[in-house]
Amino acid sequence: MAGRHRAAADDHLRAQLRAATMAAHDLLDEAMQAASGWQRRGDYARFLELQHAARAPLEDWLAAHAPPSLQPPRQTPLIARDLAALGRRVPPPAPLFTMGRIGTGHALGAAWVLAGSALGNRSIARQVARIGAGTWPVAFLGDEAMPAFWQALRTRIEQRAAPDEAAGATHAAEAVFAYFLAVAQGPQSLAAGQGALP
Ligand code: HEM
Repeated sequence: MAGRHRAAADDHLRAQLRAATMAAHDLLDEAMQAASGWQRRGDYARFLELQHAARAPLEDWLAAHAPPSLQPPRQTPLIARDLAALGRRVPPPAPLFTMGRIGTGHALGAAWVLAGSALGNRSIARQVARIGAGTWPVAFLGDEAMPAFWQALRTRIEQRAAPDEAAGATHAAEAVFAYFLAVAQGPQSLAAGQGALP
């Protein structure tokens, strides 16, 4: 019985997306630790700047292309609030995010990446609370709206998807990870990578 349940879970869209982007996620995690980390106050400010720069174009893409039920709550205003509390300005956004022709599943895949990142944020929030002794601003990492959206999205992705929807969602998720990674690796990487984005 347990085996059957596991087989079903392995089949669902969320498992497919995680499997397809696991390596990209690990690379992104490493790149973000290298680019900023969050060990000191200045590192944390850079981490937030990077998050803002990458998320602003992704949020714009979703606002333009996703149906309302697949629009994650915007988090850039929360990041801006944290940056202001740290005495930092909002950085310029990274270049436009684009995926060419929009197809079935694209919005779902992009929404999954942004919403799923709330899982990682929870663990980063615990570290930041400890390192900053509870004094660093955490409007972004402590956001309640994204975890709520994530819970709603789970019912949608924890089931099998039609093949074209699964393919589109995977394609979009890979593109979003590639974009975020390029931002984390710096402007040169972004310029080089843009042409290669699907
Ligand atoms: C900054 C360094 C990061 C760390 C330390 C980190 C850490 C984590 C952790 C601990 C999980 C939960 C794994 C689990 O419970 O199975 C997770 C999941 C995830 N993270 Fe990250 N993450 C980071 C950055 C990001 C970024 C920048 C994004 C995308 C914008 C992202 C997207 C995701 C996604 C899509 C999931 C999987 C959701 C799912 O289980 O369906 N992560 N991350």
